[in-house]
Amino acid sequence: MKKYYITTPIYYPSASFHIGHCYTTVSADAIARYKRLTGYDVYFQTGTDEHGQKIERKANEANVSPKEYVDEIVRDTKDLWEKLNISYNRFYRTTEEDHIEIVQKIFSYLYQKGDIYKGEYKGLYCTPCEAFWTVTQLVDGKCPDCGREVEEVKEESYFFRLSKYQKQLENYFEKHPNFIQPVSRKNEMINNFLKPGLEDLCVSRTTFNWGIPVKEDPKHVVYVWIDALTNYITSLGYMKDHDEMFQKYWPADLHLVGKEIIRFHTIIWPSILMALDLELPKQIFGHGWLMIDGKKISKSLGNYKDPREYINDYGVDAVRYIILREVPFGNDGNFTVEGMINRINADLANNLGNLVNRTLSMLDKYFDGIIQKPTKQEEVDNDLIQMSLSLPRQVEDKMEQLKISEALTDIFDLLKSANKYIDDTMPWVLAKDDSKKERLGTVLYNLLEVIRFAAVLLQAYLPDTAEKILNQLNTKEKDISTLTKFGGLKDQVKINEHVPLFLRIEK
Ligand code: MSP
Repeated sequence: MKKYYITTPIYYPSASFHIGHCYTTVSADAIARYKRLTGYDVYFQTGTDEHGQKIERKANEANVSPKEYVDEIVRDTKDLWEKLNISYNRFYRTTEEDHIEIVQKIFSYLYQKGDIYKGEYKGLYCTPCEAFWTVTQLVDGKCPDCGREVEEVKEESYFFRLSKYQKQLENYFEKHPNFIQPVSRKNEMINNFLKPGLEDLCVSRTTFNWGIPVKEDPKHVVYVWIDALTNYITSLGYMKDHDEMFQKYWPADLHLVGKEIIRFHTIIWPSILMALDLELPKQIFGHGWLMIDGKKISKSLGNYKDPREYINDYGVDAVRYIILREVPFGNDGNFTVEGMINRINADLANNLGNLVNRTLSMLDKYFDGIIQKPTKQEEVDNDLIQMSLSLPRQVEDKMEQLKISEALTDIFDLLKSANKYIDDTMPWVLAKDDSKKERLGTVLYNLLEVIRFAAVLLQAYLPDTAEKILNQLNTKEKDISTLTKFGGLKDQVKINEHVPLFLRIEK
């Protein structure tokens, strides 16, 4: 079985989540579920990035130890992912013993190799982003990533020889055109960071304690981004006696990250991997942001609600749908409650929900809920059948390019055609004529089968809804391999009870 290792970034423990935070994780979940559906042995990892000055300060403000502070928030993070139905295989914390031990080993190894050396850092630091900057990189004197104040820092530090890997990185980018996606992000990295020349990177701090101590020099803690990025391999048992997971799953197939952290993932992380003589991940995809009123949803702007409120109000799949459907993957996109309600009403309640409800109700009414497998189809059925049969291929093409929103559009286009097919074939008219009974059974069968096709694929995106539909259809044909033939639903099977999947929301 082919393996697929997919990661989200490990999240900063956040006392207050917003819907933007859910974007990477829900998208990764859809990709992971889709890969499982198509037969991959998927390992999907997420987790939390728990060290650093920012956390230490927050814990101090809250009058608790950093560990107590993160433990509480990690519980909340897991609760959110559970409510969003995130099917991760591993939730990894950078405060885990194994991680700490291996980060220290990696640091020592690079030090002994000469890729890490001791010096003094004098420069600027953005604590919210945990990022070092030079004066020329600032925008209006502020952090170019988040626009907040930076602090002057002067301290003894260890440095990683990032500059040594400049050429190797350039070559790698050139030889592997899909390594950074979308391409616009790759160009940004080349123009903004590689072309001006890479400087060595400060990789330890001495002015606070909440981090992984450098084994040979414990007044230093490892720079939080080095600690964090290595999670992708420490979790797999890299440098451990039992490294079967590492052997099996590394290199990662996809690191999915937001665009503001693509620099760490495409420049710093690959250089560290090169220094460790390890293979690079196959792809790093930098997605865009969910915005409100043209600004990134973020804690500092305070323009957000806890996503669990939306889940309570509209249901988990409505929230997943908005996240996955609203923005072409890679771009920024606006999030509004009004937009969410419009989509729920138009796509979920009308297009999908009504189709399922109408079809199943007609089968109940005209055939006591018993499926009538046809012996022959008519000319007008062919379009719908062909459209269904080509859907899995279309979705596969889109998912290959991580065009999640477009994959959903294809599925919903098929549902739209099925709704039109009802208008064209008018089952209620057929029902009035006894001699058309067989034809009526065929029309309803075609609709049920189209619904099954859509539901099988929707398992990747709207898992609860897909499961409900497949249960209502009373079918075990849930595997994607059953979509090579139109006609998976069995004859004379009675469908199960059904309730509407989504209710229309009055604004
Ligand atoms: N801890 C670092 C990642 C270390 S990975 C080795 C971090 N954490 S984060 O909590 O700030 O961000 C986690 C993910 O949430 C990132 O992919 C980030 O882009 C995403 N989002 C946070 N706000 C967002 C939006 N408003 N819109 C879309 N995604 C954004 O960065």
